Parts: sequence; structure tokens; C-alpha cells
Amino acid sequence: MKIFLDTANLEELKTGVAYGVIDGATTNPSLIAKENRGFLPLIKEVLEIVPGPVSVEVTATSAGEMVEEAKKYAEISKNVVIKVPINLEGLKVVKTLSDLEIKTNVTLIFSSSQALLAAKAGATYVSPFVGRIDDISGDGMELVEQIVRIYENYSIPTEIIVASVRHPLHFVQAAMIGADIATIPFSTLTKLLNHPLTDKGMETFLKDWEKVKK
Ligand code: E4P
Repeated sequence: MKIFLDTANLEELKTGVAYGVIDGATTNPSLIAKENRGFLPLIKEVLEIVPGPVSVEVTATSAGEMVEEAKKYAEISKNVVIKVPINLEGLKVVKTLSDLEIKTNVTLIFSSSQALLAAKAGATYVSPFVGRIDDISGDGMELVEQIVRIYENYSIPTEIIVASVRHPLHFVQAAMIGADIATIPFSTLTKLLNHPLTDKGMETFLKDWEKVKK
């Protein structure tokens, strides 16, 4: 499973990339707003750090305007993926961008029917938001299972990005189900690595090594 960082924070991206486990990044208007920086200069810096696809979300609401915005971002780098919301205007945008060979990540996916329609329109990626479904007492991972099954049934090449990841279990479940990608906050990345028994084991080894040195 590929791992994307779900952040526009340059320090988090640099650190994650240095760990050697990051394949790409996803941003959204809320993540961009947190950084208090000019949008385009920030995206350009993100693209310089990340060695793979970077999702950049359009903010217009009509298909025509979204396509114009998308073309502008796509010119910046071949790694730009245009994030488009799943609605009727969004589907038109996905079809147009797919014909122009511009990659898309269809976002705010909350049902498997939305994921199937996005794929049919030519989406490169779809992003089911598992955490936000869990937040309203649903089962986000069940949605991922459905999408994986449907895409397998029809050999659909659209890749599934498990998004709105809240904790390490979401990440493990995404990998067990066979999702292509999990996009995770930086805080989850460190939680995936830490284990108290690893820390305890290291402490014991180092203490015993001190005895050998004496
Ligand atoms: C994914 O592409 C989104 O940016 C993100 O995962 C949304 O997560 P949230 O529900 O924690 O805001």
C-alpha cells in the first residue's frame, strides 16, 4: 500500500519524506488555510519536497471554472493531481480532465455509487473519507471494502485513497482490505511506528551494553 501524507505543512512533509516511506501527498483548502501562506508558492514548495503525486483541490463550483483552475495547477508539475468534489459538475470536470490526460482525485466520497460513477467518468483516484463516516456512527472501512469489491468486479483501474484517516487502525484495516493508498496525517505516521515494547527492548539492550563496556 502506498502512503501519502495528508498535509500542506512543509516541515511535516520534509520529515516524512526523509523517513523514506512517503509516496505522495494530499491537500485540501482547510489544510492549506492552516499554513498561512500564499497558495501557489506553498503548492510549489510542496511539489519540490514530495517525490510523487500531490493532490491540489479546485475551489470553483461550476465545471467550466473548475477546468480552467485545474489546467492552471496542472501546468506547474506532472505530479499535480486535481482534486475534484463528487457532484454533477465535478463529474463533467473529471471527464474533461481525463480526456486532457490530467490526473484527478475525486474527493468527498461517502458512498460506493459515488465511487463507481467517479471511476466511470475517468477518475485516476477516489478518496472515501472513512473518519468522517465513523464520526456519524457509520462504518467507513465498510465503504472501502465495497469500493474495492466493485472495482475488482469490473477490473476498474481507478486507485482508492483511504482518506480522513484518524488512527493507526484505519491504516492497518486499509492495508488488510487491499486499498491502493492511505493518506494520513503526520501524527498518525509517528503513531504507526511507536511501540512500547520496542522502546523497552532498546532500553534493556543499551543498559546491558554499558555492562559489557565496563
Ligand atoms: C483527504 O484527501 C482529505 O484531505 C482528508 O483526509 C480529510 O480528512 P479530515 O476528515 O480529517 O478533514
